[in-house]
Amino acid sequence: MSNIAVVGGQWGDEGKGKIVDLLADKFDIVARWQGGPNAGHTVRFEGKVFALHHIPSGILREGVIAVIGSGAVLDPVALLQEIEKLEQEGIKVRGRLRVSHRAHVIFPLHRELDRWAEENPSIVSLGTTRLGIGPAYMTKMARVGVRLVDLGEVETVRAKLQAFLDAGFGELLRRSGHSLPDAQALAEEYHEHGRVLAPFTGDTPLWLTERMKEGARVLFEGAQGAMLDVDHGTYPFVTSSSTVAGGLAPGLGIGPRWLDGVIGVFKAYSTRVGAGPFPTEQRTEAGEILRERGREYGTTTGRPRRCGWFDGVAARHAATINGLDAIAVTLFDVLDAFEEIPVCVAYRYRGMDLPDLPAEPWVIDEVEPTYEVLPGWRHPTSGARRIGDLPAAARRYLDRISSLTGCEVAIVSVGGDREQAILCSDRLWSANMVVPARAGRAAPAGTPVRRADT
Ligand code: IMP
Ligand code: MG
Repeated sequence: MSNIAVVGGQWGDEGKGKIVDLLADKFDIVARWQGGPNAGHTVRFEGKVFALHHIPSGILREGVIAVIGSGAVLDPVALLQEIEKLEQEGIKVRGRLRVSHRAHVIFPLHRELDRWAEENPSIVSLGTTRLGIGPAYMTKMARVGVRLVDLGEVETVRAKLQAFLDAGFGELLRRSGHSLPDAQALAEEYHEHGRVLAPFTGDTPLWLTERMKEGARVLFEGAQGAMLDVDHGTYPFVTSSSTVAGGLAPGLGIGPRWLDGVIGVFKAYSTRVGAGPFPTEQRTEAGEILRERGREYGTTTGRPRRCGWFDGVAARHAATINGLDAIAVTLFDVLDAFEEIPVCVAYRYRGMDLPDLPAEPWVIDEVEPTYEVLPGWRHPTSGARRIGDLPAAARRYLDRISSLTGCEVAIVSVGGDREQAILCSDRLWSANMVVPARAGRAAPAGTPVRRADT
């Protein structure tokens, strides 16, 4: 297997950045297909901490090319700052980042609309990142969005912004107490951002497909998590994009058959930031311990995350909607402190057992988790590098998570640093899922053949 997706199995913040960073040196390209600056990936190595928002974590591995697909939404100002910051920290981004010119642009007015919707009592408040993600996707779907490629012509941007304002979004802005932006001035400003970003942008579907035909290996990096997926998550308490693995084909503009395997990343417990159902949430001392030990504060917003036990019902849903092949379990050492560790294995609703995740958020709100209480190990695991280094109770805990998701555990992360991980010698590693032959491969049937020009 050559091309693997790494996706969040819970509500985001599972530590995908760390897992991607760990695997990235086995790949040539790391590609992201959805979301925007709402994502926050923290990666630590050599005593440095890198916080990434738009740019895939793979950029931190030398030689890897990072791609952002058409399905993402980008804030040009924030993206340029992120590029600058990484370059200042010694990470070369120029020449290693390729952004689809079809990706949509987030304007300040999208952030204003996001804030207004959050503060409007008659609209459900999600606790969004307030970075304009939802409104940017609304504009895109309403077909009045501005794409990166459109920034090339001031007049195109101005006309599109005017169309956007006339399509009802201007009225919304007015109602939210904002003065309407001067479309001409905004167009000129963003045309300039587009000029600076131009060296990074292009036809990524074509480029990516050509590289894959030549045998390049691609790691597809998800942002957020399964439960925040717009179609399959805890709607309406979701983000506005397809966070599941299947979203990568339309998001990147490649055929679905290029994907060979999917790894779901799960915390050893659960967290959620923002509003919405969270059955295993612990507003107790245990929840506090999880938050403090796991340093559960948002990378993007700094908000304290809601914390709770591992939710096997939600995890099984995540395994289904992603077609997971294997899982990575992160922040495992956080559990070292507990005498006993409850794991949710089913939901109970008005006296009935619910085997699957309900689609109604009000039902999920009301369910009682059925817990199986597993013995803790009360022993530091952050130094473990092999499964055999873990106490028996810790291995038993991992086995339970594996049986609940129906997936083998491929990686266990036991600390923030790159080295603090256990790479399990199971199918993932032994059957060349991640370490494949480098030879070129045939394109899936129907892929037009075109010679690479770069
Ligand atoms: P939005 O993506 O800013 O529109 O926020 C929608 C919901 O998704 C809110 O509950 C956010 O807290 C949540 N969310 C968005 N991005 C992330 C993330 O990267 N990690 C965790 N939660 C996120
Ligand atoms: Mg995050």
